[in-house]
Parts: sequence; structure tokens; C-alpha cells
Amino acid sequence: MKDLFSKIYRDKGPLGKWADQAEGYFVFPKLEGQISNRMKFQGREVITWSINDYLGLANHPEVRKADEEAVKKWGSAYPMGARMMSGHTDLHEQLQNELAEFVSKEAAYVLNFGYQGILSTIDALVGKDDVIVYDVDAHACIIDGVRLHLGKRFTYKHNDLDSIELNLARAEKIAEQTGGGVLFISEGVFGMRGEQGKLKEIVELKKKYNFRLLVDDAHGFGTLGKTGAGAGEEQGVQDQIDVYFATFAKSMASTGAFIAADKEIIDYLKYNLRSQMFAKSLQMSLVEGALKRLDLIRKSPEFKNKLWDNVNALQNGLKAKGFDIGTTTSCVTPVYLKGSIPEAMALVKDLRENFGIFCSIVVYPVIPKGLILLRMIPTATHTMEDIEITLDAFSAIRERLENGTYKKLSQALMEKMGE
Ligand SMILES: Cc1ncc(COP(=O)(O)O)c(C=O)c1O
Repeated sequence: MKDLFSKIYRDKGPLGKWADQAEGYFVFPKLEGQISNRMKFQGREVITWSINDYLGLANHPEVRKADEEAVKKWGSAYPMGARMMSGHTDLHEQLQNELAEFVSKEAAYVLNFGYQGILSTIDALVGKDDVIVYDVDAHACIIDGVRLHLGKRFTYKHNDLDSIELNLARAEKIAEQTGGGVLFISEGVFGMRGEQGKLKEIVELKKKYNFRLLVDDAHGFGTLGKTGAGAGEEQGVQDQIDVYFATFAKSMASTGAFIAADKEIIDYLKYNLRSQMFAKSLQMSLVEGALKRLDLIRKSPEFKNKLWDNVNALQNGLKAKGFDIGTTTSCVTPVYLKGSIPEAMALVKDLRENFGIFCSIVVYPVIPKGLILLRMIPTATHTMEDIEITLDAFSAIRERLENGTYKKLSQALMEKMGE
């Protein structure tokens, strides 16, 4: 018999194996200073393109004031306990009512964390006779929610309507045999590639197939739709989304999340979401802070307008320079380049140290081998100067990638890793 830890001593896992080369720099980097378009990394100022503070609310003076006053008033503990036991307050209820109204649903329920919340939502919505259909590129929280499911599940090819229909037909056939129903899960915006889920086309399929639709709109909430109510509003199908989910971790620049649906569904979920029934309620400073943020989103469309001015300038600028930004239809801006992982590391180091640009890199196994994805999140706090500097820097690093500079720089690393 083996020591349980033997596998850990041997291998830290698909990402952990890069720890020696990457930790503190490519992973677990320490960005310092106030959250904004410019922060400090290892002592030098960088333009930050990896922070999901889409609307720039993290440091808005009214938000900071509301957060600080709430902490002064309540401390960080209140309320203690899970919502159902001793963690419920009038302000939680007020936030729920305001969120429900904002996303045009009858009711909402505030969650302590998005990840656990959506995982439990999936768990609570399905029984062993039900069937789940979900996108192969789904976020980890959806995948983990599906992992709890004891019945059948089908993935469809990313945002592919033929594959969606094929799998819906399969799911329906099985549900007819088991006597269960079908849960369809899509994201409002896929956070890596930036494509919106095909919600309009998916809800159209409701005429042909019998299913309920859960949408994770983490990146759509606050950024899409006329009022900022998300991808459903943008595509004109919010009323056809049966369960709507968004986190506070992006446009709301905070912690927490919510689900919204018909009152009867929320009434069921609030009694059945295990991650909320057995975990501490969201603290008051986060609840009051969320009320303030929501208020600003509702009354200040200029944040979203500024965000989109920046998104358009960045994405059009990249396209004009011949960069492949894939098929994004949201603020998420991917830039695809070709190269190995060591080349990607050399390139990002160059970007940070010689050009003062900080953005996230995504490599295999998250995307296919040989591709480098530089993922950029424009926000309302970026300036046209930030965008111009970044576009010039990207042209320079592409030239260096193509003329083999990074290959040379990364040679030692490549030898070490047997590439
Ligand atoms: C698509 C998506 N769903 C859910 C979550 C989880 O939300 P939270 O950070 O509130 O746990 C995230 C990340 O924030 C996300 O990107």
C-alpha cells in the first residue's frame, strides 16, 4: 500500500508542475497598490489587463466610503451563521429584491461565493433521473456542479448549435425513459474566449425540446445589455432564462454572488442549496457594499459606456494590427499567438519588464498545445494612452516571437523541461 501523499511528492499536478519556474511571477504574482489600470509588479509600474473590475467600481470613492462605513458599523463578523440559521438580515433581503428587479426576475437569493453557489444550484436542480446538457468549455464551477450529479450528462461542442441540438435530443430521449427532466447550462459570456453563449438560439430550441435553462453570467452582468443586466438582456431573452446566476467578483468588484428566477424556484433553492445551508452568510460590509455598487450601476451608465469605448479601441486596434482575437463578442479580449510554453514565459517576462504590460497568459492544457493566449480584460479605468502603449508593445513582442528571440531566451528552460 502507498502513502497517500506519494503522488503529491512525485507530481504537483498539471499546473503545479510549473511551480518552480512560474510561482511568484506567472502564477501567484503579487500586484501591489490600489486596484486600477496601473499597479505595481515587482517594484515597477505596469498597465494591468488582468483585473475583472470591468466598471472601475473597486476604487470608486462612493464604493470605498460605503465599504468602510459598513465595516465600521458592523465589523467583519456580522451576521454569524448560515442564512437559514442565524445569518439572515433585512439588508440581505433588500439586496435580493433590488437584484431581482435589476435582472427582471421575480426573486433572487444572495450567495456567499459564486463558485459554491452555482455548484449547489446545479446539485439542487437535478435528481438522478434528470439529464444535464452543458458546454464543453464550461467554467470549473459548472463542471464541478455536474460532477455531483448522479444521472446522465452530455457536453456539447463549444457554442455549436448542431451539437447543442444533437445533445438536447439525446438528453430528452433519456429523460423520457427515466421520467426525469433536462437542465441546460450555458455561460452568458465564456470567460476565456469572450464569446457570448448562444442564448437566443438556445431559447428558440425550447419550442422543440423540453428543458430548463441555467445561465452563468459572471462576465455579462454589468457589461452587457442596455441597463447592464447581462447577456440575456443583450440578446433579448432574459425572460426565457429559467435560472440566472452572476457573481459579485467582476463588475461588482467585490465578493459574493446571486441567483435569480421565479419566486417558487428561489423559494425551493434557498431551502436546498447545501453550500448556503451549511456555510456562513455573506457579511454585512459585502451586502451594503453590493447595494452601493448596484445603485451606481443603475444610475451611472457612463461606466459601461467608458468600458465599451475602451473595449472597442483595444479590440479594433488589435485587429487593425493583424492580431487574431478570435470570435469574442464581449469585453473579454483574447490574443492568440503561436508558440511553446517556454516561449510564452519569455514573452510575458518581456512584456512585463520591458514594456510595463501585465496580462494573464493561458497555455496548454487549458488551450491546445502550441497556442499562447494572452487574455486581456479592458475596464472603465483604462485610458487611450494605456491602449496605445499596449498595442505598440504587442507589435514588438509579436516580432520578437516570430524572429526567434523568445525561443533563444527560453532555450535553457526548454532543455530543463525536455521540450
Ligand atoms: C464564469 C464564472 N462563474 C463563476 C465564478 C465564480 O464566482 P466567485 O468568484 O464568486 O466564486 C467565476 C469566477 O469568478 C466565473 O468566471
